[in-house]
Amino acid sequence: MSEPTADIALIGLAVMGQNLILNMNDHGFTVVACNRTVSKVDDFLANEAKGAKILGAHSLHEMAGLLKRPRRVMLMVKAGKAVDEFIESLLPVLEPGDIIIDGGNSLFEDTIRRTKHVESKGLLYIGTGVSGGEEGARRGPSIMPGGSPAAWPHVKPIFQAISAKVSDGSPCCDWVGEGGAGHYVKMTHNGIEYGDMQLICEAYQLMKDGLGMTADEMHQVFADWNKGELDSYLIEITRDILGFKDTDGQPIVDNILDTAGQKGTGKWTVISSQDMGIPITLIAEAVYSRCVSAMKDARVEASKAFKPSNPKFAGDRAQWVEDIRKALYASKIISYTQGYMLMRAAAKQYGWNLNYGGIALMWRGGCIIRSAFLGEIKKAFDKNPNLGNLLLNPFFKKAIKGCQRSWRKVVATAVKKGIPVPAFSTALAFFDGLRSERLPANLLQAQRDYFGAHTYERLDKPRGEFFHTNWTGTGGRISASTYTV
Ligand code: 6PG
Repeated sequence: MSEPTADIALIGLAVMGQNLILNMNDHGFTVVACNRTVSKVDDFLANEAKGAKILGAHSLHEMAGLLKRPRRVMLMVKAGKAVDEFIESLLPVLEPGDIIIDGGNSLFEDTIRRTKHVESKGLLYIGTGVSGGEEGARRGPSIMPGGSPAAWPHVKPIFQAISAKVSDGSPCCDWVGEGGAGHYVKMTHNGIEYGDMQLICEAYQLMKDGLGMTADEMHQVFADWNKGELDSYLIEITRDILGFKDTDGQPIVDNILDTAGQKGTGKWTVISSQDMGIPITLIAEAVYSRCVSAMKDARVEASKAFKPSNPKFAGDRAQWVEDIRKALYASKIISYTQGYMLMRAAAKQYGWNLNYGGIALMWRGGCIIRSAFLGEIKKAFDKNPNLGNLLLNPFFKKAIKGCQRSWRKVVATAVKKGIPVPAFSTALAFFDGLRSERLPANLLQAQRDYFGAHTYERLDKPRGEFFHTNWTGTGGRISASTYTV
């Protein structure tokens, strides 16, 4: 029998899977293509993969026989049950030391569980984020792998070859950490993606309703913004979307129903933040804004009951556009500050040694949130790897200070005019909360102690000493236990 020649197998021939195979093939790797519905393998080989050195397998057994050792098998299937089912089917055809890779948008807790399970069978596991959509998968995605550290050296040459590269040639792919670290970082990426998209949508609504601008005019604004500090993939595609005409010659965006879908990664980010007590308020508002948008019928009804007043902004239009740009930029800085706080808390909770500058580099190219801005975040962490609060980095501190006036003006005017700006305003509220040495939580603690004897700490006593007051004169001497989730 001849020696196996294939470097990696990929299961799941939907568009992401197919494009990753073609990308690997371009970089000189021999890939075995597999799919649950096997006819799709022949179809792929006869069409998209025609003429390429790509092999096909009609069973997992056949696939295993074609692979060099340790075998590398990548799943690009729907997150959830399908991943577990494939793992169970793969275990009997693979051998100790072989590597199973899940490249879908899996929940990080599933990846923690699967890593342990696969390792308990003597094999290795990688759960990796892959970002960049169809085009990224084909030409160079951002790849965020975590799982069994011993698997990384065997996967690194393939992943780093096929990933996007930044201008100095560094790959947008590096080892993230053990267990579910890779999928956690990808989940946070998606949460930030939700935030960035919501911010852009609020800027769009402010220009459309507040300034009465047309899609063509906004197309030009986004084209200009993309040349400056907001330079990013999402601003770029917004520019193109606003310039895109429907068959009737009108901007297609004006004909699209205003209800947003979501597949769940933004929601997972918020759930995890709640578990860890980290206020990622902007991402949360972005998720809830999609929920509000989905309540189309209720909105139509309420809009009749509470007719909006004239939303038009007074004053110099060009100045307003610049104010909106600055409000967006400042809010974006807050969103990334919150996202990095979340990853830091998760690293502590799950025992991951995350490289925050490395994460910024992985996101710098290839992925949906890629931007010039992430280059600045990389520099901030290069300067201080222990930076706990992005806002305290001199670059971002200066940037926020430079935007503050416009940011407040935009939020205040939007509130007065009745244009919803949940992400812009929650970012500002978070900023004001964070820079408040004193918040009204003293009163809140008094309320908790009043009705439930939950106790409070005092300003004139050391931290960790708890007090209870008999507020009504009728309460007992016993206080509730003190704990914080
Ligand atoms: C990416 C995207 C990708 C996908 C999202 C869309 O990084 O390439 O984030 O993972 O497009 O899952 O998410 P929603 O359907 O929830 O908007």
